[in-house]
Amino acid sequence: MILVTGATGTVGRALVDQLVTAGAPVRALTRRPATAALPDAVDVVAGDLNDRASIAAALAGVDRVFLLSTGPQIPVHDANLLHEATRAEVTHVVKLSSARTADATATDPIPTWHRHGEESLRASGLDWTILAPLGFMANALHWANTIRDQNTVYAPYASGRIAAIDENDIAAVAATVLTTPGHHSQTYLLSGPEPLTPADMTATLADTLAKPLRFVEVDPATAHRTLLSHGVPPRMADAIMALRATATESFTSAIHPTVRELTGTAPNTFRQWATRHLADFG
Ligand SMILES: NC(=O)c1ccc[n+]([C@@H]2O[C@H](COP(=O)([O-])OP(=O)(O)OC[C@H]3O[C@@H](n4cnc5c(N)ncnc54)[C@H](OP(=O)(O)O)[C@@H]3O)[C@@H](O)[C@H]2O)c1
Repeated sequence: MILVTGATGTVGRALVDQLVTAGAPVRALTRRPATAALPDAVDVVAGDLNDRASIAAALAGVDRVFLLSTGPQIPVHDANLLHEATRAEVTHVVKLSSARTADATATDPIPTWHRHGEESLRASGLDWTILAPLGFMANALHWANTIRDQNTVYAPYASGRIAAIDENDIAAVAATVLTTPGHHSQTYLLSGPEPLTPADMTATLADTLAKPLRFVEVDPATAHRTLLSHGVPPRMADAIMALRATATESFTSAIHPTVRELTGTAPNTFRQWATRHLADFG
């Protein structure tokens, strides 16, 4: 049995779908089972990564775990999961981390939180694999409101290029790693196929949606205020802005061959992602 945490989120939901399609037995951990809307074949269990007893219960009969945790609680949530996993029958944990943890000079919050989680995982004695993606294509969903209302994308760091990745490709790598041997002690850097600026992505969205869109660069302070106005907690907004500031560094535009090497299929382009997500911008 494979336990997936973060199963109702962007990557977790895609992973659950792919594992179910492949016929793998899947259990999903969520704080809100009643609204999880996961496939019937999934064993949906109530649990919270803050609550070790709920994790222990969710791990009964589980031999592999996909560990997805988010925000400032990442170090504690990862430690909680790993503490219980070492007391259960778990043999292999696959952690979704961040490409920036590999850069020792990256000391801003998100890579720091993940680095703590990675250290706990390596020290756990369990087989481990770390998936370290660059930015998600799904971050473009944050532009949906202003695309709908103003035909405009507002974003900071206009010159930054990111080889962003489709959540389905992260999920495909995770499914491969969870269901085939040979991935112990591996850290896989993951990227999409093309480094794109926000203006490039805006042009692709305009094409896909068949309507003209404007791209407007905003200063980082304005982008920070926008995050707060959407209800993002201040500590998380600071962390997101620190990460966004790295968009102009060269590592964000590096293309890694990992998705093709592990899954046998080329990673999706942003156009393919946008075509699949058309309704989200409609
Ligand atoms: N966005 C990017 O560009 C990017 C790039 C690289 C790495 N990452 C990493 O990717 C991860 C985020 O992935 P995502 O976007 O797929 O996540 P997401 O869509 O934000 O979903 C978060 C998931 O976490 C679950 N969750 C939150 N708090 C929980 C708790 N206390 N106990 C149990 N479950 C909890 C939620 O489940 P319920 O609400 O159902 O409980 C939900 O399924 C983060 O670790 C981030 O650092 C993101």
